Amino acid sequence: MTDPRRVLVTGASSGIGRASALALARTGASLILVSRSQTALAEVARECVELGASAQVVVADVSDAAAVTRAFAEATRNGILHGVIHSAAVLSYGRFEQVPAEVFDQSIRTTLLGTANVSRSALEVFGHQGDRGSLVVIGSLLGKIATPYMSSYVTAKWGVHGLVRTLQIEARSTPGIRISLVSPGGVDTPVYLQAGTYLARHGRPPPPVDPPEKVADAAVAALQHPRRERYVGIANGVVVAGFRFLPTVFDTLVSPLMRLGGLSGSQVSATPGNVFEPQPEGESLRSEWRRWGGRR
Ligand SMILES: NC(=O)c1ccc[n+]([C@@H]2O[C@H](COP(=O)([O-])OP(=O)(O)OC[C@H]3O[C@@H](n4cnc5c(N)ncnc54)[C@H](OP(=O)(O)O)[C@@H]3O)[C@@H](O)[C@H]2O)c1
Repeated sequence: MTDPRRVLVTGASSGIGRASALALARTGASLILVSRSQTALAEVARECVELGASAQVVVADVSDAAAVTRAFAEATRNGILHGVIHSAAVLSYGRFEQVPAEVFDQSIRTTLLGTANVSRSALEVFGHQGDRGSLVVIGSLLGKIATPYMSSYVTAKWGVHGLVRTLQIEARSTPGIRISLVSPGGVDTPVYLQAGTYLARHGRPPPPVDPPEKVADAAVAALQHPRRERYVGIANGVVVAGFRFLPTVFDTLVSPLMRLGGLSGSQVSATPGNVFEPQPEGESLRSEWRRWGGRR
């Protein structure tokens, strides 16, 4: 894809999706902004228009395949869809047996099956356009390693990475359709405070923490210059190598490191967070996490 004119962004109301929408808006793109929260999306749409873009708000839950199909139908009503950035996901913290089954299941439905729903609709639309279009999926460092207390997210992201790699191989027969994965480490977004938690503590991004704009730039670059995978995060390579080649050392260190750098100190009551319903009051571009831990 050489001209990112019409782009659908999921998770556009917060964090990386919102940063991606704003980055595309600066290029004058025509945007279709998708998430569950009308109010938060309307605010992002206003910001995009101020930057010179046109923006259409489409409320849809990515875990609902029919809603995703309808969102893509809306997106293609006024012309060709050049690209999709899929950023929507949810998190829930807790030991596997402490997280209620319905919270685990809905997290998987959103983060993994939501990616399948969005990918299926994107490929269908790209196919109808004569096999043209660029899909960028936001994966995670946790699609390559495992950490305690995040079982639904790790399970979902391993699935997301497997699905995207499979789609990339299948897309070799349709060279006009390009599929890219962007895998960030810790990013300063609201996701940690929006997450469900059954640990009495919120999560926080493990250092080093990157700004959402850095991931958005990688996603927009992938839209225009597709690549199998783009990493964001200077520590990712070392962490993945430790997980793969020194599993005993990794397993010994990961729980204390997670408690130290991946969980916040303040006490919170058990909550499903935004797993079932959006929490628009908590949605924003970033969350003021410092690069080396803690909040500003
Ligand atoms: N932040 C990090 O440290 C980090 C690190 C690695 C990877 N990532 C990945 O980056 C992506 C974006 O995360 P983020 O940190 O930007 O999170 P965020 O700030 O919480 O944004 C998540 C977005 O997803 C939307 N969303 C959640 N559930 C949805 C559903 N069922 N249907 C439609 N939209 C839904 C949210 O809007 P509504 O709630 O209004 O629907 C919101 O716009 C995710 O794929 C995440 O896994 C993040």
